[in-house]
Amino acid sequence: MKIAVAGKGGVGKTLIAGGIARGFAERGLKTIGIDADSSPNLGLTLGLTAEETRKIVPVSDNQPLIETKTSTGYSGVYNLNFSVDDIVKQYSVPTPLGVNLIVMGTVHTMGAGCMCAPTAVIRALLRHLVVEVNEAVVMDLEAGVEHIGRGTSRHVDDLLIVADSNMKSLEIAKHIHGLATASGMKSLHLIGNRVMNATQQEVIQTFADQNDIHVAAYVPWDQKVIDSDMLGVTPLKNKGIEAVKAIDGICELLLNKKI
Ligand SMILES: Nc1ncnc2c1ncn2[C@@H]1O[C@H](COP(=O)(O)OP(=O)(O)OP(=O)(O)O)[C@@H](O)[C@H]1O
Ligand SMILES: [Mg+2]
Repeated sequence: MKIAVAGKGGVGKTLIAGGIARGFAERGLKTIGIDADSSPNLGLTLGLTAEETRKIVPVSDNQPLIETKTSTGYSGVYNLNFSVDDIVKQYSVPTPLGVNLIVMGTVHTMGAGCMCAPTAVIRALLRHLVVEVNEAVVMDLEAGVEHIGRGTSRHVDDLLIVADSNMKSLEIAKHIHGLATASGMKSLHLIGNRVMNATQQEVIQTFADQNDIHVAAYVPWDQKVIDSDMLGVTPLKNKGIEAVKAIDGICELLLNKKI
């Protein structure tokens, strides 16, 4: 199963991507978490320390991976044929929550004539990565529409678009939904996050209904998430947190194809 998580900046993409990845790993799936944000922080959410995350070599800086696995000798043409095992054994970093993390890194120039190599690598990776039934890939996308516009996440099974009741985040969710639909993606779902009350849920649901967007789940606003993040401890470690429970519920929905 390949999942990508998109949405406006700060809406909770990383928390939700991390929680879903952890849920898959806990249920016995070999799971890769891809941090596709150029300001990566999925590692912290998966339980690594700041120091450990600093030591991770991003794929964009991993010359052996790029050269031996992707180069066809033609600028802009990439040749990837990975198995999840390949990635896990050779390139990922294990995390305390059982997810194998790869960090895509920032946009550097890889070869002459191509200024967007990491994006191309992610796209090719998702396209050519052979994911077996007992394996999962969860990608935490950069905020906004860039990855969607470039088709980075076109080859995922489900795109989860996170928004809260703020109209700006809902408008961006709508934009992402439109771009993803135009690129041929079919399984698109809105996740309403940081829901404080029935009014906020109603705002999200009404917006979704008016724009023909499917809402898959709501995640409540939870002070404990903020408190954990403030202390630098991943909220995912505390399964008593209501928001964390709700995110785990999304994982169940995905696994049971009920989304
Ligand atoms: N359900 C929730 N309840 C309370 N706070 C939340 C919830 N979800 C996320 N947050 C808080 O919102 C902030 C942003 O969360 P997160 O980093 O997951 O968002 P993001 O969309 O990945 O952000 P960015 O665009 O910067 O990558 C964090 O401080 C987090 O603690
Ligand atoms: Mg994030």
